Amino acid sequence: MTASSRPANRILVLFGASGDLAARKLFPGLLHLDRQGLMPEDYRIIGSGRHSPGSDDEFRETVADALQEHAAEDVEDQDAVDAFLQRISFVVSSADDGADLRDAVTAAEEEVGADGDRLLYLSVPPGAMKAMVGMLGETGLADGAALVVEKPFGMDVPSAQDLNAALHDVLEEEQIYRIDHFLGKEAAQNILAFRFANGLFEPVWNRDHIAYVQIDVPEDLDIAGRAAFYEETGAFRDMIVTHLMQLMALVALEPPTRLESAALHAERTKLFDAIRPLDPAQVVFGQYEGYRDEDDVADDSTRETFAALEVRIDSWRWHGVPFLLRTGKAMATSSRTITVGFRDAPLQMFPLHETGDDAAGTPPTEVVFDLSEDPTIGIDLLTKVPGPTLELARATMRLDVEEELGGAAALEAYARLLHDVMLGERLLFTRAEQIERLWEICQPVLDDPPEALPYPRGSWGPDAAQDLAGPRGWRLQDDGS
Ligand code: BG6
Repeated sequence: MTASSRPANRILVLFGASGDLAARKLFPGLLHLDRQGLMPEDYRIIGSGRHSPGSDDEFRETVADALQEHAAEDVEDQDAVDAFLQRISFVVSSADDGADLRDAVTAAEEEVGADGDRLLYLSVPPGAMKAMVGMLGETGLADGAALVVEKPFGMDVPSAQDLNAALHDVLEEEQIYRIDHFLGKEAAQNILAFRFANGLFEPVWNRDHIAYVQIDVPEDLDIAGRAAFYEETGAFRDMIVTHLMQLMALVALEPPTRLESAALHAERTKLFDAIRPLDPAQVVFGQYEGYRDEDDVADDSTRETFAALEVRIDSWRWHGVPFLLRTGKAMATSSRTITVGFRDAPLQMFPLHETGDDAAGTPPTEVVFDLSEDPTIGIDLLTKVPGPTLELARATMRLDVEEELGGAAALEAYARLLHDVMLGERLLFTRAEQIERLWEICQPVLDDPPEALPYPRGSWGPDAAQDLAGPRGWRLQDDGS
């Protein structure tokens, strides 16, 4: 730890503290930061929500259970866990009434000597966001605060504009942290390093050499009890407009002039400006069979649990290169894979091993970023098979970052981003104009959504999504790697 990685004393207020995200990611992430010496010397965490979970001690017990389940090795030192839990309390609040919460925050700030540095985390349903922001303004809770807002940041262009206007009524843009946890993943940040720290790749990172890009995030999990959220949001808003578009930006943006947030934001904004508004004819929606039987899902729900689409970028670098995006619930596997496919060598002189066929027609060189918990970067290429003939086979050069460099210091995405917020580091967060532009790009699909076609659980989605990828297909498929 360096002196600069320990933030100043502060109060953290988590709205939605009894929810799933708090249990799975936020409390475990904060405990991890605490154990790593990355939390302030002194701090308090005030959970908040409309319904009381009981006394503070009862709330701490539910947090303790969540930590047992989700905080792995950080719960081994029981004294440290107890000290962490003692910092936690719960105060009821709602969009209409934040007075008790404001009083509790003021008292806690005096206790820890926090100089108005507070972090407010709004993990509430999209429909409740705007009213909550209003309450933060009226009570003065927003004064000087850093406000973290969870996606999807509105539901379409008008509501995103509306939400941004409400946010800007009470906060400066610099106080707002729109969190997209995919940007906090180590492996996502490594895309920037891969592209911009090595002289080898960037010169070929363009339409002259790249034939296609696939950003593929299938999930084998179904909606897992999140029916209310899914019925309101769907896969397109939950994943495409947010996580997958942000990953696409990391692959496609121009080199920033400096590694700092203003420079990166300028490039991201420029890239989003260049993305062509989506063509609904190039979008496939699906719904897994059995979705309508889930609790709290309408019998005739048309909500999509799967989306695949083609995106085009009208820039000198990317003109003519299809970016294929795909995600869905209850699919054949879980993966977060970005594949960058290169153009074929102009002449194929070599026969393939075993078949003796011409190597033309085999998949081209592909750079593959696997953004799993144990991230790898691979390059699939044709290489000579040892033996007396000059025959080729496809093989992979693989960089396993953890194996090479160790992974002990890696922070889980939410922990990393919470720490960034406390330090005022904005590099990995998105800005208002970018969000509005993303909704603009996506609005044609919201206006004219394709029918959600049924697909079997455990499959790759509707057949129409296979066709979207053309004869080459998706890299991830039944016979894929
Ligand atoms: C969340 C989505 O933001 O990201 C979920 O709401 C999705 O639907 C999740 O499952 C995936 O995140 P991760 O980090 O588990 O890949």
